[in-house]
Amino acid sequence: MASRIGLGFFGLGTVGSAVVGALAERAARLERQIGRPFEVRRALVRDLAKPRAAPLDAAALTLDAADVLDDPDVHVVVELMGGVEPANSYVRRALQAGKHVVTANKEVMAAHGVELLELAAAQGRDLYFEASVGGGIPLIGPFRQDLAANQIRQVHAILNGTTNYILTEMAAAGVSYEHALAEAQRLGYAEPDPANDVEGADAACKLAILASLAFTSPVRPADVYREGITRIRAADFRYADELGYGIKLLAIAKRGAQGLEARVHPAFVQKDLLLGQVGGVYNAVWLHGDLLGRALFIGRGAGPEPTSSAIVADLIDLGHNIRRGVHNRVPLALDGRLPVLPMAEVRSRFYFRLWVSDRPGVLARIGAVCGEHAISIASVIQKEVDQHASRAELVFLTHEAQEAAVQRALARIARLDVVAEVASLIRVEDLAE
Ligand code: NAP
Ligand code: HSE
Repeated sequence: MASRIGLGFFGLGTVGSAVVGALAERAARLERQIGRPFEVRRALVRDLAKPRAAPLDAAALTLDAADVLDDPDVHVVVELMGGVEPANSYVRRALQAGKHVVTANKEVMAAHGVELLELAAAQGRDLYFEASVGGGIPLIGPFRQDLAANQIRQVHAILNGTTNYILTEMAAAGVSYEHALAEAQRLGYAEPDPANDVEGADAACKLAILASLAFTSPVRPADVYREGITRIRAADFRYADELGYGIKLLAIAKRGAQGLEARVHPAFVQKDLLLGQVGGVYNAVWLHGDLLGRALFIGRGAGPEPTSSAIVADLIDLGHNIRRGVHNRVPLALDGRLPVLPMAEVRSRFYFRLWVSDRPGVLARIGAVCGEHAISIASVIQKEVDQHASRAELVFLTHEAQEAAVQRALARIARLDVVAEVASLIRVEDLAE
């Protein structure tokens, strides 16, 4: 049995460097805890000349994945490259080569996690992925183990720090989406190309992972309905506030009689709810289990230190397994076959904002279209009148209605000669604490 636990890194960027740093700083404590030291042997990168924060000898860097995969003294591969390929193939090859794997890669785990976990089990190896959702917040462990006695009914989560920062700024400072995004980029929260975050793809991958664990039934990123935050305007925050709500990019998974719901979209959330108060780059996951009832996890969902907290914890657990000669202690059976409902069939409440001609009978015509589509209006606000253009802004809040009916009704409303613009449509999630 080896006296050290050899680690090979795929990727030594923001997170990889922080993990190597955290392992070095805690080396003595980790050795006491596990009974054996970690040794970082090789790290695959793209550019050998790039300056790195990691306390690692330059000779350990390589451009050849085989240097990691073929090293018999690498027992654990730590995959921190990002993206689906080649990361997915490298993880697969590492497991086939008899290595354990720790990854923070939500894209790989959301798209290929089921097959990779099956491969790991077949190979008698472990695949850990705590950092793939919620950065430093413990989520994968609790969903796999601590909540296992529960039937999870619902998950409502804020899984993307960049968009939560942008929405928090828009709400607090009344600034435009473009202004808040520029500020997020200046502070290093948002990427130069922010599409993955602001269009909801990042949150959809994370929700697919959490929903699969919560319902023990595979949910793929393509099953998750996705809508980003780019169309939200400052006016929507003003009306939301007046109606007692804030606006969050919510990742929602529900178990219903007909199947699962899995969706990421902006939503009105009650202001006085704890989830509604989670601001800035923080993430939060609010769930409802049949035994536990409701529980809220909150913390830093990204950043090198929080993410390395989750990865080093995975390595510690894995270190105990290796030392005791066990693996797959908590088998993951994603054996459910629950269908994910098409978005058209989902029911929720809705807020919509229209620009209309300011003349008699307009409200009645819009109300009639709603009535024909079985949409019951809960309240209406008309406030800001653009006197020059004789236009008025109308805001509707509906009772619960079917998505398809609302989309059809709004398409009809948009064609009415008295309607200049359907400016916003945002779903309303009324949650009980
Ligand atoms: P990063 O800073 O861009 O680092 C990526 C590393 O992978 C770099 O060292 C890069 O090499 C290397 N790499 C990328 N593609 C490669 C290829 N084809 N061949 C060889 N090396 C390659 O990314 P990161 O922010 O550390 O994120 C790493 C992973 O952690 C991602 O899956 C991400 O989603 C996840 N994660 C990140 C955070 C966060 O806060 N950053 C939070 C949670 C999860 P070079 O250095 O030579 O370019
Ligand atoms: N870009 C993500 C976020 C962090 O803003 O939350 C990495 O998953």
